[in-house]
Amino acid sequence: MESKPVMESTSLVDAKGLRDRYVGSLRSDDVGKRVTVCGWVARVREHGEHLVFVDVRDYSGIVQVVAHSSVELRSEFVVRVAGTVAKRPEGTDNSSLATGEIELTDTAIEVLSEAEPSPFSLQDRAEIDEATRLRFRFLDLRRERMQQNIRVRAKINSAIRASMERQGFTEIETPLLWTPTPEGAREFVVPSRLHLGSSYVLPQSPQLAKQLLMVAGFDRYYQIARCLRDEDLRADRQFEFTQLDLEASFVTQRDVMSFISDAVTAASQAAGIPLEGEIGAITWKDAMDRFGVDKPDMRYGNELIDVTSVFAGTSIRALSAPCLKALVAPNPSSLTRSRLDNLVDRAKSLGAKGLLWLRVIPGSDGLQLESPVSKFLTEDESKNLVAATNVSDGDVILIVGDEWQKACEVLGQLRIDLGRNQANPGEFRYVWVIDFPLFEGIDEEGRLVSTHHPFTMPNQEDFDKLASDPLSVRSQSYDLVLNGWELGSGSIRIHRGDIQSRIFSLLGVTEEEASNRFGFLLEAFKYGAPPHGGFAFGIDRLTALLVGEENIREVIAFPKTQSGSDLMTGAPKQIEAKVWDLLGLSVKPQKKDLS
Ligand code: AMO
Repeated sequence: MESKPVMESTSLVDAKGLRDRYVGSLRSDDVGKRVTVCGWVARVREHGEHLVFVDVRDYSGIVQVVAHSSVELRSEFVVRVAGTVAKRPEGTDNSSLATGEIELTDTAIEVLSEAEPSPFSLQDRAEIDEATRLRFRFLDLRRERMQQNIRVRAKINSAIRASMERQGFTEIETPLLWTPTPEGAREFVVPSRLHLGSSYVLPQSPQLAKQLLMVAGFDRYYQIARCLRDEDLRADRQFEFTQLDLEASFVTQRDVMSFISDAVTAASQAAGIPLEGEIGAITWKDAMDRFGVDKPDMRYGNELIDVTSVFAGTSIRALSAPCLKALVAPNPSSLTRSRLDNLVDRAKSLGAKGLLWLRVIPGSDGLQLESPVSKFLTEDESKNLVAATNVSDGDVILIVGDEWQKACEVLGQLRIDLGRNQANPGEFRYVWVIDFPLFEGIDEEGRLVSTHHPFTMPNQEDFDKLASDPLSVRSQSYDLVLNGWELGSGSIRIHRGDIQSRIFSLLGVTEEEASNRFGFLLEAFKYGAPPHGGFAFGIDRLTALLVGEENIREVIAFPKTQSGSDLMTGAPKQIEAKVWDLLGLSVKPQKKDLS
């Protein structure tokens, strides 16, 4: 096991290039071969008087290099190593490494660049404060888990592209300097230097551009599109994110769902998680009724149960509501009295008037209910509730009474709060949610509010209810949900002027407003618009779920913090006054620094 000291300035670069192998590819089959590898020093271990073991890492893995102890190497130095692949001495194999049976001996090591001590350990399992990771993102990304996440993301993108091309879609780029689109989030504004006082808007999505491409006759468009929304950040939200965006002409809802299913199946496959069978569908009404959310996590049960009829004649004030929904709590033994009190507060904070809990206990004559209202419950009510909820000894029933949607929403959130731990993280349950209402409600000024956007086509069967009962009109729109996250949404669009005018008037959008905001689209529609529809799903969200991360930051190379800062570059930064001058703007001094 001889090794040579570090070669100083003479470069080992020759006609073959810098290296001929990745370290992770070396195996016992290669024993005896002379190879050259490049990478980072992961670890240096002194071994006896004259030898050191150097773990050299590249993206593909780690290899053990036997070097002379005069070699001056520290962690994260970048090195090039020429050496002979040798079997490790008997009994020194490392079965946790793919290269654990071999090592490089008779080595010559060239330091390609030195490194300051790393501010944190790059050993993958180490828990490091996120702010430090983001401040030194280029180091954080060197870690195996991050390498894996970003590489799986690339594979997902590639599989999506292949699926789209296979299905006859054409990739078309759309502008980033754009005009407002109707997704409903706040927009990032880019002031124009050449048109002082005017601004571009960064697109929340390519929504209007893709509809114009349909008028332009492209038939099937797609794009892996960057979208920008100035909204509050959460685990599944960034200012900048990426969608698979598509639009197609002469299609039905079923066609669009099939295009997307193909893309998602390909993406899952690429991430090593094959998706078996067809993705099922649930109507919005059913999703709300059974799970209390429009993005149900189908990995666990605990469905909401309607118990309105059980208490039809009740004398209990808290239970005299238009709708009573019940949830049998998972893990009831953890629900101590104080946790139940917390749940009541939680329900109130979600907008419920209250929350009634009932614990099932054995009684002299079958099961009994222990609850703050026990003494007001009739025998029939108790018996019927136990039957309706199918509970047994020790269970806890939670009931919310309110309007149907409110009762469902509050209990749906409690189902998520209490049930989260029940979901198997290795399970992937996709579901389509269809038949959303066209309008989600009425605003303070009495105007209807679109659930998706104002170009969504009403359900054909509900057209005659547009005037008489608009809130019951369903739309031709559909969401795709995975494990309780909304992955994407889409709709069949309105392509006819008469229907669009009708919807605008219901939304209280005047002709002038419509023409100011979307005039270019409405004009295009006058020149022969094909029936069309589309969809977009978040690639950040899909990747995060498929690689088992809880925050999309973990699958984005350079994400922003929760407060929208980039800790590595320092963005957003103060801009020099002369730049504002050039844009015809000035900025008031700011008191609050939000970084
Ligand atoms: P929508 O607004 O529902 O639809 O967005 C589609 C999907 O994009 C992802 N997404 C986000 N991901 C990360 N951070 C964000 N801030 C963020 N906002 C949205 C989600 C979401 O489901 N133009 C329509 C689609 C269409 O009708 O064709 C649209 O953008 O995964």
